[in-house]
Amino acid sequence: MERIYFDNAATTQLDPEVIDAMLPYMREHYGNPSAVHAFGRKARAGIEQARRMVAKLLNCAPGEIVFTSCGTEADNMALMCSVRDLGVKHIITSPIEHHAVEHVALELGNSGKAQVHWLRLMPDGKADLAHLEELLKANDHVLVSLMHANNELGTRNDLVAIGNLCRKYNALFHTDTVQTMGHYRFDLEQLPIDFLTCSAHKFHGPKGVGFLYMRNGSVLKPMLVGGAQERNMRAGTENIIGIVALAKAMEVAYRDLDEHIQQVQGLKSRMKKAIKAAIPEATFNGDSSADSLYTVLNIHFPDDGKGEMLIYNMDIEGIACSGGSACSSGSNKGSHVIEALYPGRTGANIRFSFSKFNTEAQVDRAVEVLQRVMAPAVV
Ligand SMILES: Cc1ncc(COP(=O)(O)O)c(C=O)c1O
Repeated sequence: MERIYFDNAATTQLDPEVIDAMLPYMREHYGNPSAVHAFGRKARAGIEQARRMVAKLLNCAPGEIVFTSCGTEADNMALMCSVRDLGVKHIITSPIEHHAVEHVALELGNSGKAQVHWLRLMPDGKADLAHLEELLKANDHVLVSLMHANNELGTRNDLVAIGNLCRKYNALFHTDTVQTMGHYRFDLEQLPIDFLTCSAHKFHGPKGVGFLYMRNGSVLKPMLVGGAQERNMRAGTENIIGIVALAKAMEVAYRDLDEHIQQVQGLKSRMKKAIKAAIPEATFNGDSSADSLYTVLNIHFPDDGKGEMLIYNMDIEGIACSGGSACSSGSNKGSHVIEALYPGRTGANIRFSFSKFNTEAQVDRAVEVLQRVMAPAVV
């Protein structure tokens, strides 16, 4: 049986070009980047070259990029350190952020370090900009943290509109771009964003490496202390293999971006159309229009008693997909995103997330299996 992978929002397959870029740093260039000898200098050069590559692709300065161990760390740093170091007293965020933001906001709120304001959402999960303006008007020393695209729904926020509102009211703006980095272009000279976050494993890089972009002028102090690495921004011997791989994954992603968008968007549209035809009672969660994240499609089935085992049954048939975020895959329970947008609603939800390694034949097979799994039992 061919196993088909449609869980690319949870993580992606490594690109062979990325693997090739990693190998020399596993085999030969293993020096500690802080060491002064040639081995160390070679490793250091790899890190700085990677930083320049990332900065060039995002049109920012290399010094504005801090490599981290993952997207979660970068999100934690943006929120925690802006409260600690930049005098932030209010955090405006939404109830459908990834836990890497939501739980940090809750923690900061519960410990009294900041007051958290939960933004109202539009029915498709986009930020309610009128409410955002109301909250910005009423509060000073604000950090707004709103994700670019939701990892479960694919709903995408307008970063320019949100960032311009933040500028108007003198608030800082952090956006979790973990699902969109490597999938959309970002020009950070133009975009009104102070902090953004990235994770390499969402665009065919390895797990365990990411970065925080920190606009010059909004400079945080380190969250991890005990070493001068990352230009004194993050202590700890650098994940050199991961950092080199992240830059390579970004280079490949942006080199092939237009082709990649066209192909993957085509797969999503094909699946959407096929599901509508095969299972008329299915609806799509969040925004599934052409404006939404082209790698994610989230489907709802009214409760018919079969939904509970849906992800499990799909897996038995060789199709890997998810019930929501990675932490809740394998189960339809526990999606704070679905619960926030559709409170109390029953039924089953399933997320397919696509990559350049998927094919139309795989989409057709997944829909055929889904139709069979969801078919009413014959009595
Ligand atoms: C939107 C979003 N933010 C943050 C993260 C966390 O990234 P990482 O797995 O690198 O910690 C994820 C991963 O699922 C995500 O989808």
